[in-house]
Amino acid sequence: MASEITYRLSRRARDYFDLKTVLVTGGSSGIGKSICLALATAGASVTILARDPGKMERTVAELESRRQRAGQRFRSGAVDLRDFDATQRYIAELEHESPISCLINSAGVAVPGKIIDQPVTIIGDTIKTNLLGCIHTVKAVLPGFCSRNAGHIINLSSVAGFVGVFGYSAYCSSKFGLTGFSEVIRAELKRYNIRVSLVCPPETDTPMLAKERELQPVESRRISASAGMMSPEQVAAKTLEGAARGETYIFPNLMSRLSFAAKSYMPGMLNRYLDYLGNAG
Ligand SMILES: NC(=O)c1ccc[n+]([C@@H]2O[C@H](COP(=O)([O-])OP(=O)(O)OC[C@H]3O[C@@H](n4cnc5c(N)ncnc54)[C@H](OP(=O)(O)O)[C@@H]3O)[C@@H](O)[C@H]2O)c1
Repeated sequence: MASEITYRLSRRARDYFDLKTVLVTGGSSGIGKSICLALATAGASVTILARDPGKMERTVAELESRRQRAGQRFRSGAVDLRDFDATQRYIAELEHESPISCLINSAGVAVPGKIIDQPVTIIGDTIKTNLLGCIHTVKAVLPGFCSRNAGHIINLSSVAGFVGVFGYSAYCSSKFGLTGFSEVIRAELKRYNIRVSLVCPPETDTPMLAKERELQPVESRRISASAGMMSPEQVAAKTLEGAARGETYIFPNLMSRLSFAAKSYMPGMLNRYLDYLGNAG
């Protein structure tokens, strides 16, 4: 059970997140949930934002068991991030109670399928959740962040945020978009002393991946497995360590880092390798 797992964070990461007020979208499951548990251990106050209240209540109870000090607050709010007005309203209420110091966007969906088969509604929904959902929360926290000249935005992208993976046209569109969005706001928000980090995990053993497995074309499975598999606890720890070091790109394992290098320096060779992997079997 996640609550029995120990998060070994460095002194630097614990100091960075201690006493911070962190809003984690998608904090009720998978990577987001592990991030919340690690944050609670580091002394941060955490608010989870997702849709299912039951899952969030169970996670808040787990956060309580990791409380480090009396002043920590653990809360949750049921909001669909695709709805900008609802997201903005909820975040404005939170800001009124206690200013947010860090936003971690982990909410996301992934529904694999070949473009020829996939309904356009699924593609639209994926982009609305994974890309627009992040834009919505960023827009909502910015008035507070800019007025205080402080803040950190951490967006969960993926290796599929810079490598096009067979069977993932919807997901890659949303995550490539998130990469571009994050790079632009990094430059624009620097003058407000707001940091932006982009996390690019490989396959991670979460409920999202379990659902993907049921739909993944065989080619996709061969390709995505090549970047290695991590646990959500490992990705959470790497995320918080990288953020505390002020990294813009956070690559949780060697293969995600090597994939980025291959994409940057040898895109043609990478495509040939991916075609080979997809067709091998
Ligand atoms: N797992 C992987 O292999 C992998 C690899 C690379 C990157 N990532 C990225 O890492 C992030 C976390 O993935 P995960 O595997 O941990 O997923 P997960 O276990 O399925 O969790 C997804 C979270 O997002 C929330 N969510 C989904 N749609 C939402 C919406 N419209 N509004 C509000 N909340 C919503 C879910 O809660 P509700 O359903 O209750 O709303 C849940 O808390 C995602 O951005 C994903 O793309 C995952």
